[in-house]
Amino acid sequence: MNSINSTIPGDATMPEKAPLAVEDPVTEERRETVEIEEGKTVGIPFSDNPKFALRNVEVSYGDTRAIRNISLDIARNEVIAFIGPSGCGKSTFLRCLNRMNDSIDTCRVKGSLMLDGDDIYDPRRDVVELRARVGMVFQKPNPFPKSIYENVAYGPRIHGLANRKSDLDEIVESSLRKAGLWDEVKDRLDATATGMSGGQQQRLCIARAIAVSPEVILMDEPCSALDPIATAKVEELIAEMSESYTIVIVTHSMQQAARVSHRTAYFHLGHLVEVNETNKVFTAPEHELTESYITGRFG
Ligand SMILES: Nc1ncnc2c1ncn2[C@@H]1O[C@H](COP(=O)(O)OP(=O)(O)O)[C@@H](O)[C@H]1O
Ligand SMILES: [Mg+2]
Repeated sequence: MNSINSTIPGDATMPEKAPLAVEDPVTEERRETVEIEEGKTVGIPFSDNPKFALRNVEVSYGDTRAIRNISLDIARNEVIAFIGPSGCGKSTFLRCLNRMNDSIDTCRVKGSLMLDGDDIYDPRRDVVELRARVGMVFQKPNPFPKSIYENVAYGPRIHGLANRKSDLDEIVESSLRKAGLWDEVKDRLDATATGMSGGQQQRLCIARAIAVSPEVILMDEPCSALDPIATAKVEELIAEMSESYTIVIVTHSMQQAARVSHRTAYFHLGHLVEVNETNKVFTAPEHELTESYITGRFG
């Protein structure tokens, strides 16, 4: 377990969004008066022996700066949640971790982004191999229009992880088990994946990510298209997976961040304002902007 916080916080009783505080509303005007010093993050952004060491990261789309001088470590086997108002750069920053931004023509990434001490943006790096090590689960479940079996077998096959059918069968079963889906689908592995419920599809996408034995799983609002029961299942899964993987999750739900993560990072207008143990962020935030966000004064 990482050196930051080895416990997963218990059930948070925080409301999804607190009602607007009428006494001291943070108006647009007031928001502008809160100074954010570029490159300055309060809390504990660094850790010993990190999985990712990210320094002075800047990302722009053409002339628009989306990420402004962010430095952060992500520890091994930690679950870190990225929170913050819409458009503040959470997805952009997440996508840097497996070079998902490469396909956006206007996108430029600067700074030092290291995974286990090696440069993620080294031009000689094999991006397909990188994305097998750093898997991704998206907001909307996106299974291939193929069978349940084929969805999970696809990755191991193209990465040459199984030579025999029996090896592949084994990977498919164990991945579906780890994704908590095996019992629901074992009798219909040949059925098309798109016929499953949304929650099952998302767990299938998680099984598909797990099947290539990744070290890191990036999740961009993985539950926002799911109902509460399906959400609870995915959250349970995140807790189990944190024993084997490093997990970075973007979420709009502060309750979810509180339930699943060890550390929480608060983003604001492209800045990383605060990173701290999750309990601390939600009970005693250090930065005024973090406090305003978690108390629902803006977002
Ligand atoms: N493909 C893109 N092209 C141009 N601008 C983008 C693109 N993706 C995101 N942006 C801009 O970058 C900023 C950060 O967006 P994003 O990372 O999606 O934020 P979040 O995930 O926190 O909502 C926003 O101003 C957004 O408009
Ligand atoms: Mg986003």
